[in-house]
Amino acid sequence: MKRLGVNIDHVATLRNARGEYHPDPYYAAKFLKKIGVDSITIHLREDRRHIKDLDAKKICSIKGLLVNLEISTRNEIVKNALKIKPNYICIVPENRKEITTEGGLDLKKNKKKIKKIVELFKDKRIRTSLFINPSLKDIKIANEIGADCVEIHTGKFANLVKSRKNFQNELKRIKKSSKFGNVIGLEIHAGHGLNYEATKILSRVDEIKEFNIGHFIIGESVFFGIRKVIINFKKILS
Ligand code: PXP
Repeated sequence: MKRLGVNIDHVATLRNARGEYHPDPYYAAKFLKKIGVDSITIHLREDRRHIKDLDAKKICSIKGLLVNLEISTRNEIVKNALKIKPNYICIVPENRKEITTEGGLDLKKNKKKIKKIVELFKDKRIRTSLFINPSLKDIKIANEIGADCVEIHTGKFANLVKSRKNFQNELKRIKKSSKFGNVIGLEIHAGHGLNYEATKILSRVDEIKEFNIGHFIIGESVFFGIRKVIINFKKILS
């Protein structure tokens, strides 16, 4: 059984659209724990466009819930994350103008900085992950940095699947990267843009141990309810 992490940023997006309290991401996290998801992902963005500091603090205080906090390499965010003390962190690239995280980290350019950040979290026994493109070079650098895991950016693959285009080359890249990463001792995760169909295809890649899925789950829940959507994903991943 592969693990399912649910990204609840867009519960906060919906709440923030009214500037009030509903729907509350804290309640969403508690509810998802109750219905058996493996972890919750939240992204504390520099512009705080969805999850706010107080949300992150409250969600990380839920007993028995594993929380994966996505952060950029900005000092202010790293300091906050160290105070919030999630179970896991995933370092992601961040660009204020983007609608969502558009690609993996530039590990070659930022190797030294990311290595220092990874060490800070490893000292606190927090699992560390790097969000990267499916590239053998980046897998190698992620290992040199000392990260515990890599999360492969599946956005390009998912878009090809959704637009009924040929996804075989991108799938090959993901498979090769996952195999290589696994052999050198990294735990492999996948995330971004995933719907049922794209997840089903990637669920056949043995080396991928964890899927982090957000926008599609929250969107699909409008029609079918979050419990049903989670059941469907769990079936795909079993
Ligand atoms: N994993 C990472 C590292 C992300 O940055 C995101 C988007 O915030 C996701 C997974 C979830 O992507 P989506 O919302 O497209 O499912």
